[in-house]
Amino acid sequence: MNERKSVTAATLLRAKQRGEKTAWLTAYDAVSAKIAEAAGIDVLLVGDSLGMALLGMETTLPVGLDQMLHHTAAVVRGRQHAWVVCDLPFGTYQKSPEQAFDTSVRVLQETGCDAVKLEGGEPMALTIRFLSERGIAVVAHIGLTPQSVKRFGSYRKRGRDDAERTGLLKDARAVAEAGAVAVVLENVPEYLAAEITQTVAIPTVGIGAGAGCDAQVLVWHDLLGISEENPPFAPAYANVRQVMSDAISRWAEDVHQGNFPT
Ligand code: KIV
Repeated sequence: MNERKSVTAATLLRAKQRGEKTAWLTAYDAVSAKIAEAAGIDVLLVGDSLGMALLGMETTLPVGLDQMLHHTAAVVRGRQHAWVVCDLPFGTYQKSPEQAFDTSVRVLQETGCDAVKLEGGEPMALTIRFLSERGIAVVAHIGLTPQSVKRFGSYRKRGRDDAERTGLLKDARAVAEAGAVAVVLENVPEYLAAEITQTVAIPTVGIGAGAGCDAQVLVWHDLLGISEENPPFAPAYANVRQVMSDAISRWAEDVHQGNFPT
């Protein structure tokens, strides 16, 4: 019998309090969820990065709610113990707390996942409070927020000057006070992520934010070396793209030569 306990928001908070790190990884289907969980991943994030990682989109903006529901339900079917978080896609929560609530209810009811993630700091605090007070576990995402790429014009690092540094500290405090159960810090300087981690009581989850965060998250395709190009902060731990390509090309060659089936 597998004695592993299910991960919850409380587990993640306790891990922070004990100084234990947790490992988050994106997953978009049931098979990946099973592999990741068996390999020791604590949290499976169904990121809207699936638009780029899986669906050939240039940004996360075209990702729709139906796509998130489809992939999140698959991840939930594949997991046993990991905590599953679903990204709320662009345009499905920014209009009002009520809109965010309606979207979150669909996500939780139709997929069985554990939490929703939304992008934005202080301006989203009201929405985070609205959801939290109604029993929804919310993960906030600050720093580089990919859904705002058209507003900022690039995916550059955030928090490099004094104004941005102060703004990010305010954002982190605001989302924590509003009831977020964790906060993703994307592409912010290491010293600032460490300062935020010391400042807020909730777990911080770093991606391109240095070693001082309570947890780390990477995109599946980057970690496994499937992406054509990785961001500088995301080292590939394998070259799965090459492994797949070699297997497929050997098989195609065998078919073309009439050597398959043997
Ligand atoms: O969409 C995503 O995969 C994310 C992670 C990069 C944090 O938001």
